[in-house]
Amino acid sequence: MSSFENLSYEERTFAPLPEFTAQANAQASIYDEAATDRLAFWAKQAEALHWGKKWDQVLDWQPPFAKWFVGGKLNASFNALDRHVEEGRGDRVAIYFEGEPGDSRAITYSQLLSEVKRAANALIELGIKDGDRVAIYLPMIPEAAVAMLACARIGAIHSVVFGGFSADSLITRIQDADASLVITADGGFRKGAAFGLKSIVDEALASEPNNVSKVLVVKRTGQPVAWKNDRDIWWNEALERQSPEHTAEFFDSEHPLFILYTSGTTGKPKGIFHTTGGYLTQAAFTHRMVFDIKPESDVYWCTADIGWITGHSYVVYGPLINGATQVMYEGTPDTPTKGRIFELIEKYKVSILYTAPTLIRTWMKWGEEFPKGSDLSSLRLLGSVGEPINPEAWIWYRDVIGGGRCPIVDTWWQTETGAIMISPLPGITATKPGSAMRALPGISAKVVNDEAEILGNGSGGYLVLTEPWPSMLRGIWGSEERYRETYWSRFDGKYFAGDGAKLDEDGAIWLLGRVDDVMLVSGHNISTTEVESALVSHPNVAEAAVVGAKDETTGQAIVAFVILRGGVPSIGGDELIKELKGHVAKHIGAIARPKQILVVNELPKTRSGKIMRRLLRDVAENRAVGDSTTLADPNVMKLIQSGLATSKSDD
Ligand code: PRX
Repeated sequence: MSSFENLSYEERTFAPLPEFTAQANAQASIYDEAATDRLAFWAKQAEALHWGKKWDQVLDWQPPFAKWFVGGKLNASFNALDRHVEEGRGDRVAIYFEGEPGDSRAITYSQLLSEVKRAANALIELGIKDGDRVAIYLPMIPEAAVAMLACARIGAIHSVVFGGFSADSLITRIQDADASLVITADGGFRKGAAFGLKSIVDEALASEPNNVSKVLVVKRTGQPVAWKNDRDIWWNEALERQSPEHTAEFFDSEHPLFILYTSGTTGKPKGIFHTTGGYLTQAAFTHRMVFDIKPESDVYWCTADIGWITGHSYVVYGPLINGATQVMYEGTPDTPTKGRIFELIEKYKVSILYTAPTLIRTWMKWGEEFPKGSDLSSLRLLGSVGEPINPEAWIWYRDVIGGGRCPIVDTWWQTETGAIMISPLPGITATKPGSAMRALPGISAKVVNDEAEILGNGSGGYLVLTEPWPSMLRGIWGSEERYRETYWSRFDGKYFAGDGAKLDEDGAIWLLGRVDDVMLVSGHNISTTEVESALVSHPNVAEAAVVGAKDETTGQAIVAFVILRGGVPSIGGDELIKELKGHVAKHIGAIARPKQILVVNELPKTRSGKIMRRLLRDVAENRAVGDSTTLADPNVMKLIQSGLATSKSDD
């Protein structure tokens, strides 16, 4: 835990601006209100949703299994769409879509609802029923939201797979969830070119076993695709022939809404599953409070892809339930220019921007001329998510993007928590650059030491959650044991988030990154084991150890140490490294491509054979190597370091 000690903090505190406080959704009193009666507080937030039948009990807690709003019935899609149309908000724009090539569409709540109803009818025609799993593998286009809401509408469980994942990653998820339908597109646009998705689905489905009988294909790029007549169906044709009428059925509050896979400390991704009532309650509440959303006047933009939890909670469910107008952008921030995001902020007069530190640091690297080239005066609030934000990036975000007038909300949460857990409330909480500040009302976050003792201010340790919360994961799909083991066994009876945290003298929470074998690369969770498995699946690799090394832009970068297999023909040095990087990208997806791969003769192992990643991290971060006395062979580190001095990173 030595890394907890040598952090430098930015000392300044930014008090809320009185003009902001005067109009804020949040009132300082809600912390007390929640502390006085937590369950009554959450029940009040749940009442903001439309329920077909009200719950009988707010919480049923049989640790570590929670049920929220027990006995209640509701429909997620009804809450996100029908409700607005029925209450006269149908003409409000729900989504301003901007494709990377420059095509754009403004979709109102009424239009989105008709599309979702047709899609729901199409799913029914394909035999999809409540409880069935549907895999969604789409680019960032409105159809992704339509597909999710259509599943939710009929009680089918969606499992969105990020469009950057490989065929291997896709089929693993399809198999684990036992999905019977895949919704995909011919392709999407990225970095100025069309990429294929349907071809990857075809490759994935060639692997057995799988129970996918139909593939719905959105036409996005118009590129040629291979076609299986008995399996593949064009989305637009399937929807066109449907009735635009569909009455939403109300499902149990605990009906599963979705599965979303996240990397664990072992190679196998975990299917985190969320249910309906509690998840929607907290997604909508946090979206309203943390982003201070004023649906009549704000234009909100969360830059996350729908393939991640941020896209689920803060592109689809939270904003739509709150009736917000939002921007959805398909492409990359540097296409066609590095000013693209800023041009879109100006074009749509975006008032609330929610993005990740990795993008903020990239903007810093590109230079101020890009944000300065657009009018950003419409912005009134800025959010950050996905990894710790360093104070320099926070200050830059505030000054250069926010013009010094926008509160910044650094929001800590996880796929597992479903919604924001730790964040300042804008207009209420004074902020410190780099700190997520404090747990939201109704949330109980603590920092504990190795012995599970709760620590006071001025101490560092592990972040835990000590009370159940509405949007908590209900489990790992298909593995109750892994759920207990992963989250509830390290500190008995407390949810262990896997993050280090420190409480400063004022009790503000500073997140310190993962303490397990999960790396955070551009805010994406990638497990060291998963990359190691991909590397050793290459015929030339005998053994591999992977670490996340500090990186100025991406937070962490993947550095791999590999031992080559003797007696196997191999291509030479640089070529092999390139090949291995490509091999990992092919196996997992481009986000997992190592930045650096070093060929070594030995790996540092303890006498019991455990790889000491801590020492490799020292090497990868150019630090003096820490205590290596427990190594079976203490000379190994010297050999690795001397080898490192002669190798180079090609990025
Ligand atoms: O390490 C924390 C980091 O991201 C992890 C969760 O990743 P994921 O499930 O992919 O969800 C990301 C989007 C919610 C956490 O365990 N993390 C997320 N937000 C922050 C953060 N670390 C520090 N500060 C944050 N604001």
